[in-house]
Amino acid sequence: MTNRENFGSRAAVIMAMAGSAIGLGNIWRFPFIVGEYGGAAFILVYIVCCFLLSLPILLSESIIGRRTHQNTFGAMSTLAPGTHWKWLGLLTIVSPLIILSYYSVVGGWSFAYLIKACALQFKPENVEEVTGMFAAFSSSVWGPLACLLVFLGLTALIIFSGVKKGIEKFSKISMPVLFVLIVVIAVYSVTLPGAMDGVRYLVKPDFSKLSSDAFSAALGQSFFSLSLGVGTMLIYSSYVSKDENILVSGTGTALFDMLFAILAGFAVMPAVFAAGIAPSSGPGLVFETLPYIFAKMGAGGQFLSAAVAILFFLTILVAALTSSISMMEVGVAYMVEEKGVSRTKATAGIFFLTLVLGILCSLSFGTLSGVKLLGNTIFNFCDRLCSNWLMTLGALMFSIFVGWKMDKAAVRDELTNGGTLKANSRMFPFIYFLIKYIAPLTIAAIFISGLLA
Ligand code: PFF
Repeated sequence: MTNRENFGSRAAVIMAMAGSAIGLGNIWRFPFIVGEYGGAAFILVYIVCCFLLSLPILLSESIIGRRTHQNTFGAMSTLAPGTHWKWLGLLTIVSPLIILSYYSVVGGWSFAYLIKACALQFKPENVEEVTGMFAAFSSSVWGPLACLLVFLGLTALIIFSGVKKGIEKFSKISMPVLFVLIVVIAVYSVTLPGAMDGVRYLVKPDFSKLSSDAFSAALGQSFFSLSLGVGTMLIYSSYVSKDENILVSGTGTALFDMLFAILAGFAVMPAVFAAGIAPSSGPGLVFETLPYIFAKMGAGGQFLSAAVAILFFLTILVAALTSSISMMEVGVAYMVEEKGVSRTKATAGIFFLTLVLGILCSLSFGTLSGVKLLGNTIFNFCDRLCSNWLMTLGALMFSIFVGWKMDKAAVRDELTNGGTLKANSRMFPFIYFLIKYIAPLTIAAIFISGLLA
């Protein structure tokens, strides 16, 4: 492990981790989940979930990664040699690759929509035309496949360039740009006529609207959004140097991710209300309704609305890329460090593997829509398998591992840098309590209640 790369600075660590966290989960998934589960009250539950349950998992992954400076499989084998914990290492190599396959399909759509926005294809005259555009595009064969190829190709290109020149450089440049873009779009959105109802929807909680499954939805969303349970935070933390404060980088990542999700809510919901569209329109919200809204609401004329649409889909594309690279890195690090394969070959291998599954996921919107796995299309099956099962299972196992299997002194050592970080030392008992008891018990309870519901 002597010539293993590390991130160059604290800013680089936070930008890379926030880059993994901030993605389609924030811009595409968060607004429609908030819409489905009733707005502000759900956001409050989500925030509590992030800090009490997801942050301890993020820290657990960071502790394992930074302790060992190894890929997920190597890390588990080192910390618990000769035990079944290595399966957790393997699980976290498989799950990000499945996620990457279907995530890249949506990443490809955002690339396609960026091109459509540049070609001024969103016309305000006809709502059916714009909303129908999505169904027609996603169910076609070659367009989505070409975009999938571009998206995965870009991901592989960044990963191929390495940790410092690829991941760090791309994240450090793109994350600040993303924040500026999302703020610009949110400002545009809240100033549209009729947008205030959308703002109220996001800030005025109505707890009567909270259903019992809102808790498992909030937990699932926060795991997905923070890229937890699949080893991406572990692998990024394995590139963090020993003098970095992982409590600060972890908390910073969670805060940025939450801030971005809320900003995305303000970019999407006020526009949705302004156009008189139901906030609970589901996954199509971003791709079906927003292009119409942008076209229709172009208060400053066609060019302003086209510019906003371009910025919006550019934001989604870049945010998706900073996440997809983290998924690919888990498998690449494993191949390089455990199998002795060169980085180029490992990247190419993972690229082709995910491309094949990605093609199947993409075709499941059209040609292969009749192929059902346990009643789901291939895309939905992969999504359900990962976000409902594998991520939760992985997250649960990471907290159990750190809370119950790892030596407490080693955990303290990682979180406090050998006792030198005084504030961390004071907070350690509370954080350890969250990792050992609160996170696993609550996650298990929500998981089981979701199964029984
Ligand atoms: N956190 C990413 C998002 O919100 O879009 C999704 C994600 C990234 C999930 C990495 C899983 C993962 F390993």
